[in-house]
Amino acid sequence: MTKPGEKSAQTRRSMSPTIDMAVIPVAGHGTRLLPATKSQPKEMLSVGRKPVVQYVVEELAQSGIERMLFVTSRGKHSIESHFDTDESLTQYLRTTGREELLADLAFERKAIEYFYTRQRRQLGLGHAVLCAESLIRDQPFVVALGDSIIGVHAQSDIVQRMKELFVKEGVDAVVAFEEVPREEVFRYGIAQPKDGEAETFELADVVEKPSVQDAPSRLAVAARYVFSPRIFQMLHATPPGKGGEIQLTDAIRQLIQRGHRCLGVRLRPDEPRFDIGNFESYFQTFVEFALADREYGPALRQYLLARLVKPSSPPE
Ligand code: G1P
Repeated sequence: MTKPGEKSAQTRRSMSPTIDMAVIPVAGHGTRLLPATKSQPKEMLSVGRKPVVQYVVEELAQSGIERMLFVTSRGKHSIESHFDTDESLTQYLRTTGREELLADLAFERKAIEYFYTRQRRQLGLGHAVLCAESLIRDQPFVVALGDSIIGVHAQSDIVQRMKELFVKEGVDAVVAFEEVPREEVFRYGIAQPKDGEAETFELADVVEKPSVQDAPSRLAVAARYVFSPRIFQMLHATPPGKGGEIQLTDAIRQLIQRGHRCLGVRLRPDEPRFDIGNFESYFQTFVEFALADREYGPALRQYLLARLVKPSSPPE
């Protein structure tokens, strides 16, 4: 029963604005991927045929996001160029009779608007999101980390599910989580669920990069978030945390502590998160996506099978 003065879930739904804007932080230096990232953004590293960030944008577009706001930093121009239309390349492919390659550039013409702002000082992920405040203003929005792909070839509707939950429940945050091995919890924001660890759960707390002993669970923040603009108030009040940086996780924690509801959603087993932040997972992701390539995947599989039974040369 809805109490007088309260809005029913249905009214809230019909009043709720469409969530069609995503903030994509891409300002990090990518130091764990040097020298590959010395003069190119890690988000532009290729995974199979496409740069990481193209998968992120395609995943978001599938979930109804039409406006992408990148929070960039020095040396990230190639991201902007990648999403620009390149008329001279199109013309060149036409005049040289290679029209069939135009299909690979179809993403340039999608009805998506791109915005770019710079994080001028590297003060952390929370600070990067805060850089988007004056453009987002009073709308709910998505945050998608630009170095993480969800699902093989980004075939995931996690953001759509999160948006629906956000609107239905009228909460201030919905965060995606993925179960990780206990020895890896120190790399992530970790959830403390309030009421069990079902597919969707209420957050009692969330802790940025806890030690293995202190971690409240094995559910790790998985690079996708939906927020109400209230997150900006929390970010303004968030002091530097882990690593001396303003952490987005700490701002979510503040939301919870001040009595605002935040929910977690688990990624499904068929939509793993691929992290391009370090070489180990970058190599694995590349192999996974190359094996799933329709044209070259089967041959690569044969090659690897043959290659793995031969004695290998010592690593560099
Ligand atoms: C960031 C977040 C962390 C999250 C991770 C993966 O960490 O701070 O909470 O678990 O992304 O989504 P980073 O990988 O930037 O150190």
